[in-house]
Amino acid sequence: MSAPLLQVRGLGRSFGGLRAVDALSFDVAAGQIVGLIGPNGSGKTTALNLISGALQPDRGSVRFEGRELAGAAPHRIARAGIARTFQLVRVFQRMTVRENVQAGLMVGHGDHRGDATVLLERVGLGGRADQGAAQLTYIDQKRLELARALALQPRLLLLDEWLAGLNPSELVEGVALIRSLRGAGIAVLMVEHVMDAIRSLCDHCVVMNSGAKIAEGAAAAVLADRLVVQAYLGDDDDEPGRADV
Ligand SMILES: Nc1ncnc2c1ncn2[C@@H]1O[C@H](COP(=O)(O)OP(=O)(O)O)[C@@H](O)[C@H]1O
Ligand SMILES: [Mg+2]
Repeated sequence: MSAPLLQVRGLGRSFGGLRAVDALSFDVAAGQIVGLIGPNGSGKTTALNLISGALQPDRGSVRFEGRELAGAAPHRIARAGIARTFQLVRVFQRMTVRENVQAGLMVGHGDHRGDATVLLERVGLGGRADQGAAQLTYIDQKRLELARALALQPRLLLLDEWLAGLNPSELVEGVALIRSLRGAGIAVLMVEHVMDAIRSLCDHCVVMNSGAKIAEGAAAAVLADRLVVQAYLGDDDDEPGRADV
């Protein structure tokens, strides 16, 4: 078997006395969609920040396509082929939609630059290229953030609750969009609370609680796991399987 695309081993990061991520290990294979789930405060965003270089790990390894990236600067990790979106949408409000994507294209490596128009069409923003980003609705800002991430031509995309806050019909579109990424050969590591989306999209799920991995496997099996159910029940906000839509 070939080496996984992403190999996380023993990843750890503390804040003061709090182990936000504790000895976390998992793999993402090329073209796979992996769900990273767990109750609020379990360390999911911190894990994505450690992988993307936004935060430095205290210990552990992040190998991507065989290269060690743990502790590397975010732009280096982006150039290596890992792009991300943020839990709280970040678009450049004063720029147009097209300029936002062009900013992403500048970070991408020379020969692999995509085309802003193609990227915007891909995420369903084809008609809005010249609008100001601040004028976009919430879902369209999310689409724009995704287009900007895709401008890096990533082999791995990290999504932090990209589906959160979408209405039911937007959710259907959002799920289809994520699925289409796999069709395009992009692997996805998605932090998500919308369990129906996890069930329908993910090849594999990793469950965190209090910084540590408590389960992993197929979505259906993992969501039925007693430890996982208990972890979520301890958090009134995030019961797995709760209808989020
Ligand atoms: N920059 C930080 N400084 C101090 N504590 C943090 C910081 N970032 C996250 N934490 C803490 O780490 C834990 C995990 O947070 P986070 O990774 O955001 O969880 P999740 O995304 O699963 O909700 C929480 O207890 C949170 O308060
Ligand atoms: Mg989070």
